[in-house]
Amino acid sequence: MQFCEVLAKRRTIRFFQQKKVEKEKIISLLNAARFSSCAMNKQILRYAAVTEKNMLKRIFDGTAWAAKVQPRRTPVWGKTAPDCFIVVHGECEKNAPFVKFDVGAAVMSMEFQAQDLGLGCCWLGSFDRQDVHELLKLGDDRYIYAVVAVGYPAEEPASEDIELADDQSYYINDNGVLTVPKYTVEALTEFYEG
Ligand SMILES: Cc1cc2nc3c(=O)[nH]c(=O)nc-3n(C[C@H](O)[C@H](O)[C@H](O)COP(=O)(O)O)c2cc1C
Repeated sequence: MQFCEVLAKRRTIRFFQQKKVEKEKIISLLNAARFSSCAMNKQILRYAAVTEKNMLKRIFDGTAWAAKVQPRRTPVWGKTAPDCFIVVHGECEKNAPFVKFDVGAAVMSMEFQAQDLGLGCCWLGSFDRQDVHELLKLGDDRYIYAVVAVGYPAEEPASEDIELADDQSYYINDNGVLTVPKYTVEALTEFYEG
C-alpha cells in the first residue's frame, strides 16, 4: 500500500473479526513504535503485548468505546472484541516531561503500521488504569499512558472533509458507516509563502 493511502485510509477501528493476529504482525507494530521519534532519544516507553485470553478479557472489561455513538461502536466480548492489547507505559510525567509526545509518536506509528498490514487499532484513553497496572505487575515508578486495541477490522469507517464552521463529531451515517469528519488543510493552516 502506498504511504499516502495508509495515511488517508487509517481510521480508528472498534469492531474486530474474531481472528488471531499473528505474532510477527504484533512485532511489526512494536518495531514501528521503537523507531519513532522521542525526546532526546531517551526511549523511555515500554510495551506489554497481551493476547492471553483471560488477561485480554480483564483489560477489555475496563475499556470504554466511542462515547459519541455509544453503544453502537462498543465491541462485544467473543463477537467483535480485539485480539490484542498493546499497553504503553513509561516513567511518570514529572520525571519525563516530554513523555506524552513520545506516546503520541509511538502510537501513531503503530496505527500506520497496522493499517499497512491489514490490521486495525483503537487508541484507548478510557481503561481501568489501576487494574491494568496490577494485572501487569508494574512497579510504582511506572505509569500507563495508553492501551491500543489491535485486530483484524470488522468495520470500514470513512472520513469526510469539513470546514471550521462544521461539527467535527464522528457519527454513524445512513448506511451504518462510522464517519469521521476532518477539517481541510485550508481550514487548519495559515500559509506564509515565499
Ligand atoms: C489520546 C486518545 C485517547 C482516545 N481514547 C479513546 C477511547 O478511550 N475510546 C475510543 O473508542 N476511542 C478513543 N480514541 C480514538 C478517537 O476517538 C479517534 O482517534 C477519533 O475519533 C478520530 O478518529 P480517527 O482515529 O479514525 O481519525 C482516542 C484517541 C486518542 C488520540
